[in-house]
Amino acid sequence: MRGIYLDNNATTPLDPQVREAMLPYLTDRFGNPSSGHRFGEETRLALEQAREQVATLMGCAPEQLFFTSGGTEGNNTAIWCAAWADPRKRHIISSAVEHPSVLVPLRFLAERFGYEIELLPVDHDGGLDLDQLARAMRPDTAMVSLMAANNETGVLWDLERIGALCRKKGVLCHSDMVQRAGKMPTQADALPVDYISLASHKLHGPKGCGALFVRRGAPFTPFIMGSGQENGRRAGTENVAGIVGFGMACELAMQSMPETEPRLHALRDGLESALLADLAGVRINGRNAPRLPNTSNISFEHCSSAMLIQELDEQGMAISAHAACQSGDLDPSHVLTAMAIPETFVHGTLRVSMSRFTTREETELLLTALKAAVQKARTGLAL
Ligand SMILES: Cc1ncc(COP(=O)(O)O)c(C=O)c1O
Repeated sequence: MRGIYLDNNATTPLDPQVREAMLPYLTDRFGNPSSGHRFGEETRLALEQAREQVATLMGCAPEQLFFTSGGTEGNNTAIWCAAWADPRKRHIISSAVEHPSVLVPLRFLAERFGYEIELLPVDHDGGLDLDQLARAMRPDTAMVSLMAANNETGVLWDLERIGALCRKKGVLCHSDMVQRAGKMPTQADALPVDYISLASHKLHGPKGCGALFVRRGAPFTPFIMGSGQENGRRAGTENVAGIVGFGMACELAMQSMPETEPRLHALRDGLESALLADLAGVRINGRNAPRLPNTSNISFEHCSSAMLIQELDEQGMAISAHAACQSGDLDPSHVLTAMAIPETFVHGTLRVSMSRFTTREETELLLTALKAAVQKARTGLAL
């Protein structure tokens, strides 16, 4: 690996074992899984094995999952399903801090089809008011779409309670679980949630691959129509190598989770405590909320994130200010804006996101470099 990579919420490096599992499907095993001959059967079996691996990680039955091109497609598909489930229902509830792959299709439904989209606010810690959610649900609410873990802050929401509220009111429930999957145990089948989106590249699998969990009996309209692949749920010849890699990535995540989860928790807490102890004007965003073990969102007062990122990049350390899809943009993200992070802090925000390959040595090097970069930025030397 070149340098120290701590931007794992943007994407993760491919696990070498995932690469090994994929290689035969990029070479000899090239058959179309829909073909009736042995070449097709070989890849068809590989798809089904991968589906089982993903299902084991997610705690659901393999037939409740179909493969997609990633988290974006899963999120769009779930919203599409809700929109078609009962076109008379034109109210959708989501939150101000969702990923653009939820917010943008919702805006499209509002602008083109007159849907009423209600985006719930969050508190200073990125927490959600579930009483407010309960009050917001109406007889014409088509869906509630709320993420499991936020990609910028790692803040977790209580899907048990969110889903239970939806059930009580007979409202479809979708959750973007792209950042949570593979980092914490999940029992999708036991959650009162109808649709769950996943992305392979956030858990050391390849990019351009993911899955959507659909509860048995939940309304479904394919987003991509054509031939009958994926049991009629998603047309198009499957990305076999990607899917095989995703399956292996899920198996490895499942195996490593008991060791990784507490280890990253400790690394994250150690980094945050040291920064708070050694520097003035530091704020850990979402600190009082339950969070993913790998994510730390840190604001440094009177600093510029762009300068800190550049300074660290020059030392071979990759960190971002916020989501990768917005990282060229220096304005505070919609997530930090929704959390009302004070003006003097918000422009100096960094997201540190670790993976199971992150070591203590790396976080210690980051700590030293970060403290120096902040001090330099504050004394104007980096200007
Ligand atoms: C929370 C969340 N949802 C959805 C996505 C989109 O996933 P993909 O890149 O696989 O389309 C991302 C990726 O950044 C994400 O962090």
